[in-house]
Amino acid sequence: MAAAVVPAAGRGERLGPGAPKALRELGGAPLLVHAVRALARSRAVGLVVVVAPAEGVAEVVGLLDSHGLDGKDVRVVAGGGTRQESVRLGLAVIPPEAEIVLVHDAARPLVPVEVVDAVVGAVRSGAPAVVPAVPLADTVKRVAPGAPGRPEPVLDTPDRSTLRAVQTPQGFRRELLAEVHAKALAEQEAGGGPAVTDDAGLVEWYGGEVVVVPGHEEAFKVTRPLDLVLAEAVLARRRASDGF
Ligand code: CTP
Ligand code: MG
Repeated sequence: MAAAVVPAAGRGERLGPGAPKALRELGGAPLLVHAVRALARSRAVGLVVVVAPAEGVAEVVGLLDSHGLDGKDVRVVAGGGTRQESVRLGLAVIPPEAEIVLVHDAARPLVPVEVVDAVVGAVRSGAPAVVPAVPLADTVKRVAPGAPGRPEPVLDTPDRSTLRAVQTPQGFRRELLAEVHAKALAEQEAGGGPAVTDDAGLVEWYGGEVVVVPGHEEAFKVTRPLDLVLAEAVLARRRASDGF
């Protein structure tokens, strides 16, 4: 069985003032409800653990309940101050019989089930760590951070054809993910450790192999206000095409 951890404990500062991001509405339901439904659509996923804002656990339980997502296959736990900590707290309640763990941002409400299945499939086929990703549209430049407000000198331009923008769900052998999270925490508490922004980054830091499978443009992360406008449009298009 595969189990999924859904980190949903962030504040969503880049989205601007309002409720915590995972609780913001998209087409009449909170982002995190969409994300949980997207995972539950996969036959491979047997348990979803939602990691809620620490002060919002009861509210999240209520929201899942009112959207018909209560039950033994969805659990809610309190999150932490960083995404890494929230994922670790979610992982801690995954039962040992789940050999595969997915980590999926609540902020990616529209991920197609095909992406979820492709990630699980790649882990089942033997890859210990799998990330969905898409090619970049923009050219990317590395800069030397300068004084605030001053133009930044460009250092170089990586070859775009070798770059990928990484999405979620990311999939792992459960023991590997638990091990890299424990190791990273121990080193961070000793003043070192990795500074990474995704779970696969922890595996890379640990020296493990990570592979990429095709992601999907609709698995984008709702980060800034414009992303919410795009998400509403994608959802409206889906609902219109489902109606015909
Ligand atoms: N997340 C979490 N716990 C945290 C921080 C983030 O569970 N302490 C989750 C968010 O809820 C989100 C996912 O990690 O689903 C991806 O993070 P991001 O897009 O950065 O969301 P926020 O941290 O909420 O947004 P921002 O960085 O703009 O404040
Ligand atoms: Mg964040």
